[in-house]
Amino acid sequence: MADLGVNIDHVATVRQARRTFEPDPVWAAALAELGGADGITLHLREDRRHIQDRDLRILRETVTVKLNLEMACNDDVLAIACQIKPDQATLVPERREEITTEGGLDVAGQKARVAEVMARLRDAGVSISLFLDPDPRQIDAAAELKADAVELHTGQYAMAPPGPKRHEELETLRRMGARIREAGMALHAGHGLTYHNVRPVASIEGMHELNIGHSIVARAIMVGLEQAVREMKRLVS
Ligand code: PXP
Repeated sequence: MADLGVNIDHVATVRQARRTFEPDPVWAAALAELGGADGITLHLREDRRHIQDRDLRILRETVTVKLNLEMACNDDVLAIACQIKPDQATLVPERREEITTEGGLDVAGQKARVAEVMARLRDAGVSISLFLDPDPRQIDAAAELKADAVELHTGQYAMAPPGPKRHEELETLRRMGARIREAGMALHAGHGLTYHNVRPVASIEGMHELNIGHSIVARAIMVGLEQAVREMKRLVS
């Protein structure tokens, strides 16, 4: 059975829309734990568009399940990661203009830099996952660098229309999943997973961890809005 890592970035996105104190991703993480999350995932971006340094610092103290920090190979964030020591760092690419992480990390094209970042994190006792497209060249590079885990980018699968195209993407994820495990690395996956498309991915042999954010936060708004309005209505009237 795969572990569920809940990505709470979107909670911080709503807070940052007003630069206020609510909703607090620290509260959200506690509620996610109550709901059964096996891990809390957050991305400290270079531009700090959602998660702030303060969030990571407090979450390190309060989260009792696995704390997974998504981060780019960026010196500023690397220094913070080595100081805060999340349980796991997931290395991702980052471009300022992107809406979300749009592709996997190009490990094969920057092996020396990724190795350097991995060494610093390892010295700090942080386990390392690499977020990769389901591409054998990238997976082999991750194996060469002895990553602890590879998180397969499921975006292409999630975007594919139901039918043969989606089936083909799922088969690719299965084959690449086997390659990751044969190389001795743990198999993770994430990006674009929803209540409708998650099950086939969760059922891939040896799937160890799924990281899901957008769909869970979107659903939380829908299942929580009615009660929130009721409470405000009571105060207003
Ligand atoms: N895994 C990684 C590496 C990501 O960058 C993201 C998006 O922040 C996710 C998983 C979660 O994706 P989604 O929000 O689409 O569930």
